[in-house]
Amino acid sequence: MTIRWKHLIALAIIAPLLGLAVGWSGLMSVRASTGHWAVTDWFLHWVMRNSVSARAVATGDVPPLDDPALVSGAAGHFETGCAICHGSPAQARPDSVLAMLPPPPDLKAVVPEWTDAELFEIVKHGVRFTGMPAWPIQSRDDEVWSMVAFLRKLPDMDAQAYIQASGLHGVGHAGEVSPLPITCESCHAEAKLNDGSYIPRLAGQSEAYLLKSLKAYSDRQRPSGIMQVAVGTLSVESLPELAAYYANQKPGPRADAALDPALVEEGRQLAEKGRTSDKIPACLSCHDKQGGNPAYPKLSGQNSAYLQNQLTLFQSGGRGGSEYHHLMTGAAKELSADDISAVAAYFSAR
Ligand code: HEC
Ligand code: HEC
Ligand code: HEC
Repeated sequence: MTIRWKHLIALAIIAPLLGLAVGWSGLMSVRASTGHWAVTDWFLHWVMRNSVSARAVATGDVPPLDDPALVSGAAGHFETGCAICHGSPAQARPDSVLAMLPPPPDLKAVVPEWTDAELFEIVKHGVRFTGMPAWPIQSRDDEVWSMVAFLRKLPDMDAQAYIQASGLHGVGHAGEVSPLPITCESCHAEAKLNDGSYIPRLAGQSEAYLLKSLKAYSDRQRPSGIMQVAVGTLSVESLPELAAYYANQKPGPRADAALDPALVEEGRQLAEKGRTSDKIPACLSCHDKQGGNPAYPKLSGQNSAYLQNQLTLFQSGGRGGSEYHHLMTGAAKELSADDISAVAAYFSAR
């Protein structure tokens, strides 16, 4: 018998109907309790690895990941956003999580199998059909890279090092494993921060600005996966209390950072006078001004790495913030990379 077009058309109609009939019959099991067949398990992982590797090729250049300051915010976020599934050096996972299909792997064991770009791909986009979530904010690649930097350190971390990095039990109480919740201090404690930190100092910042910033994170007007998760479970009513608490803290003393005096001087010029030829306004016409708008942040004494990172975000248009943030987008537009280092050095030393 020769195969005719008629037969092929009939097959094209019947095959999907058969598929629907099998789905409708309830014969296909979705039970997690029985696990996958070994061949299904192999196939799914094979597809996942191929998909991750293929997409990681397009990731582009891997930024330097050995800066220890990258680890701190990511470690705190790992505790709130990842440890519940993957466990941590300080705490095992509940059995209920191990009954997931597929069970979330112990990352200490599997991280070395992946390249930096592949880890970036997994952490940024998550893994479909497994429960592995995507990074909450897709525009913050810098945050995703900081998580990759943390994951690289994870295999060598013992409980003590992890507690120290994540701030899990508050600074100064490291060593006792008691499941205290992570708090703002886990990341923002003065004692944990230095000039190289990407986490901002909050002590002594303007109360109005702190409140506006917290609202901006919780209303998703200021994109940060780390801060979005940190404020995610807070009620709106608790925000003024937190803003007042930090505004009333005295910024602690800190060791002088090794800043280049010529760079600081360059920054001072720009902060005081701006540069008319490039339409750069004087920063001090808005910031740190006696009687200025309290919704404009205080920059003096802020960590230089944090200031640089925020200026870079303003330039790319991805910083967001309060209803005033467009003022700053304009002010940052024409700054060169050297200008950014200079003003950050000036304000952090001030
Ligand atoms: C709701 C549970 C859950 C949460 C929360 C979660 N993951 Fe996962 N993760 C998984 C599961 C399940 C897999 C396994 C995926 C697979 O087998 O294909 C996975 C896989 C991974 C992998 C790849 C490991 C491998 O070899 O399969 C990495 C890396 C990873 N997760 C990192 C993270 C990070 C970082 C976070 C926090 C930002 C996080 N995960 C949050 C469930 C979770
Ligand atoms: C897991 C670490 C982590 C935790 C926990 C955390 N933060 Fe943050 N916080 C950060 C990072 C990182 C940034 C910078 C985010 C960005 O790029 O916008 C930040 C930024 C902020 C800012 C903006 C400051 C400025 O100068 O613009 C405020 C305000 C703030 N956090 C308050 C809080 C409060 C209040 C809590 C507790 C409810 C908290 N944070 C918990 C890491 C954390
Ligand atoms: C026209 C007023 C104005 C000028 C001029 C200005 N800024 Fe700003 N800046 C703002 C406002 C308003 C914000 C707060 C945005 C928000 O709501 O989050 C801000 C925020 C910032 C931040 C983020 C601080 C933090 O804690 O996250 C940095 C860094 C900054 N400005 C640096 C500069 C520098 C450097 C200059 C000079 C080149 C400058 N600004 C000039 C108004 C200004």
